[in-house]
Amino acid sequence: MANKPKLLVTRRLPEAVEERIGLDYQACLNPKDEVYTPRRLAELSIGRDAILAAAGDNLGPGAIENLSQGIRIIATFSVGYEHIDLETAVSRGIVVTNTPDVLTEATADIAMLLLLAAARRAHEGEKMARAGKWTGWAPTQLMGAELSSKRLGIVGMGRIGQAVARRARAFGMEIHYYNRNRLAQENEDGAVYHARPEELLALSQFISLHCPVTPQTRHFLNSERISLLPDKAIVVNTARGALLDDEALIQALKSGQVAAAGLDVYDGEPKINPRYLELDNVFLLPHLGSATIETRNSMGFKALDNLDAFFGGKEPPDRVG
Ligand code: DGY
Repeated sequence: MANKPKLLVTRRLPEAVEERIGLDYQACLNPKDEVYTPRRLAELSIGRDAILAAAGDNLGPGAIENLSQGIRIIATFSVGYEHIDLETAVSRGIVVTNTPDVLTEATADIAMLLLLAAARRAHEGEKMARAGKWTGWAPTQLMGAELSSKRLGIVGMGRIGQAVARRARAFGMEIHYYNRNRLAQENEDGAVYHARPEELLALSQFISLHCPVTPQTRHFLNSERISLLPDKAIVVNTARGALLDDEALIQALKSGQVAAAGLDVYDGEPKINPRYLELDNVFLLPHLGSATIETRNSMGFKALDNLDAFFGGKEPPDRVG
């Protein structure tokens, strides 16, 4: 590009992505990876044309109102964009893009990791081994549940839900799903569709959440729905923390109604409800779903493809607002 657009990059990005940024943009990078407050974002946006943002940035209505008038596009380095107030962005004429598709496989891998870790009591085993408390193999030690022949309920059968289904099938699981719309038969690949979430929950020995948070799905898994799950079900969440009512899940984990949970995302993250930390039947990860070198590079390149298209006078391929 002849006159390189001026880009504010809110977080430190993978090396290959920052290298490509350097070729086409006059960039203000964030080498110390500080988390910017809305006020700092407003200051740094002065004299810039665009923002390359990330999941976790605070780009709520107030933050967007205060951005410099020069900002024309926000490309977020994430598939989720609930951290950006689209209405305010659109009302200010700011284009918003995200990075769909490229995190599918990495996130599905983490969902399987959580399913296995929760079912096989990985946290308790690791804690025992590290504490030097393992006294040797024992016939009844840390017995968990097998995935094979169990029913997995998938809530939200989009790209990631379908990738989890493919993996879980290889583990011998029977796949059931709830989705706003039923998939075409070739995409179902034998998965059983349930038109009501209640129907799905009632038979899901394992349940994995893969839908976005909307006012309708917030606290989707509440105490009423948890009570429908078969006894000793296993709950996994790699989508968004707000899909779960934490208090209800903690209660069910304590009573044993839910045998175990595997969580990668949290309501109000990076804060984690401290009561989860007291429970041995929860396996916790710090939002690692997309954290592979391959995926993080692809996310960065996709965000840049959107910016390149915009500044090249074309429609950005992943425009969401
Ligand atoms: C996203 O892109 O929305 C993810 O949650 C980050 O891994």
